[in-house]
Amino acid sequence: MTTLLHIECSPRKQRSASLEIARQFIARYQHNAPDTRVVTLDLWALDLPEFDGPIMEAKYAGLSGTALTEEQAAAWDALRSLATHLHQADLLVFSVPLWNFALPYKLKHFIDVVSQKGVLFEFSPEHGLRGLLHDKTAVNVYARGMDFSAPDAQAMDFQKPYMEAWLGFIGVTDVHSLYVEKTILGPEVDQASRQAATEQALALADRLA
Ligand SMILES: Cc1cc2nc3c(=O)[nH]c(=O)nc-3n(C[C@H](O)[C@H](O)[C@H](O)COP(=O)(O)O)c2cc1C
Repeated sequence: MTTLLHIECSPRKQRSASLEIARQFIARYQHNAPDTRVVTLDLWALDLPEFDGPIMEAKYAGLSGTALTEEQAAAWDALRSLATHLHQADLLVFSVPLWNFALPYKLKHFIDVVSQKGVLFEFSPEHGLRGLLHDKTAVNVYARGMDFSAPDAQAMDFQKPYMEAWLGFIGVTDVHSLYVEKTILGPEVDQASRQAATEQALALADRLA
């Protein structure tokens, strides 16, 4: 059985382009592989912990090899259980809106919380940094209001390069991209973009499942 984790990063719900295309991908994937278990993590519905106080102290205690206090250990356990979703999944689907050339802050918040030594990566003097996620595939659905296909626009894209750098860092290198662009250039352009992206999503689902 495949576990598919859908990480929803848009608060726009039924209007969201990234969610719409991700859901089309997931429905087709499940149609092709009916024993797929789909788990959804809506970052806007989660109470992500602020990264200060005991959780911050726990991070630096861990880095320096100091034992955690009870309060720090409890904060760290909450972080670990959030990261468990990533460890348990075979296929990660991120629906990612472009916000100010980069990621929505909820996704960055999630990344800052779960990307920890001993949780998603390890470090040793012999091997340097190594991701702890293995044998996973990621599908990133990037939604952009404007058209980012032109080379000069790509220089302002801190969404896809960041997502791929982070995924590589935690060990996920089999990464596929879907794009839905021009979503704010009027209903007709938006609809045509969503239609084209849906076709790409269905084709990708057919290749992967
Ligand atoms: C806070 C915010 C910042 C945005 N910044 C950009 C941007 O830098 N470039 C762009 O092309 N579109 C930008 N947009 C438009 C979104 O990328 C577009 O509406 C996209 O469809 C959002 O994804 P969603 O429909 O899945 O929520 C921004 C939207 C919001 C709400």
